[in-house]
Amino acid sequence: MRPGGQVVVFPSKTAGSSSSSSSSYVPPPPPTPQQITAGRRRFVKLLVGVGALLSLAPYVPWGTFLSNSVSAGKGYVRQQATVDNLSEYGAAAGRKVNVNDLTTFPPNSHWVITYPTSDDLALDTQNKDTFVKFELIRLPTELGGDAKDATAFVAFSKVCVHLWCSPNYNPDQPTNPNENGYKPNQSKHEQYECPCHGSIYKVPQGLAIDGPASLQAPPTNAIPMLTLSTDSNGFLMIEKPVWDVNHNGVLGYGRYVQQ
Ligand code: FES
Repeated sequence: MRPGGQVVVFPSKTAGSSSSSSSSYVPPPPPTPQQITAGRRRFVKLLVGVGALLSLAPYVPWGTFLSNSVSAGKGYVRQQATVDNLSEYGAAAGRKVNVNDLTTFPPNSHWVITYPTSDDLALDTQNKDTFVKFELIRLPTELGGDAKDATAFVAFSKVCVHLWCSPNYNPDQPTNPNENGYKPNQSKHEQYECPCHGSIYKVPQGLAIDGPASLQAPPTNAIPMLTLSTDSNGFLMIEKPVWDVNHNGVLGYGRYVQQ
């Protein structure tokens, strides 16, 4: 009962009740041909819009926010290349790389470096974030690895552009012709290889030449890399990167390679 004595009567839901007709469900009328045509037009427009957005994806400067968000606040600046302090690197462990030192850093060798650094070698070495790890390769002699300048080195991202596993430089000669990367007239692997699904990046360009990464459209078929130089004492320097697909690439995404 409402204030003032007014009685409110709700329709009964009891089967057979005389009030059941007032609450019975009335289905909506079927759509007209005009409504169906309009709905199809809207769907086609949506498809065209999504297709246009996807076609623009390679040209979006993802690096301006993707890479920065991964390593925000660490500071991408010019810095010396220092090998992570791992015992497997022997005399090179924890050392700043000098291009004149062919004994500690011989051709056809590789090490992991951290960029950007935390300025604490122990912290850098323990850091498992592959988005700050790069494979520093001193090229084989036939590719100029004995030169005493920065051209003897490349530094590839440790993040595969396929599904983000960590590739490694393979300096060894394949013994099995069926082995991934084997070529009849090629004396050694000397390629950057991903253990997960077999993507192989050609050294020194970093373009994928085999495996799933090689089937991806540019720029998602090349590994991002650092730009290297030397200081006046021959120490290897990492230049401040430009994280977009037309320069150093976008970590975990790719880079355009001139062919
Ligand atoms: S993640 Fe490297 S080949 Fe798949």
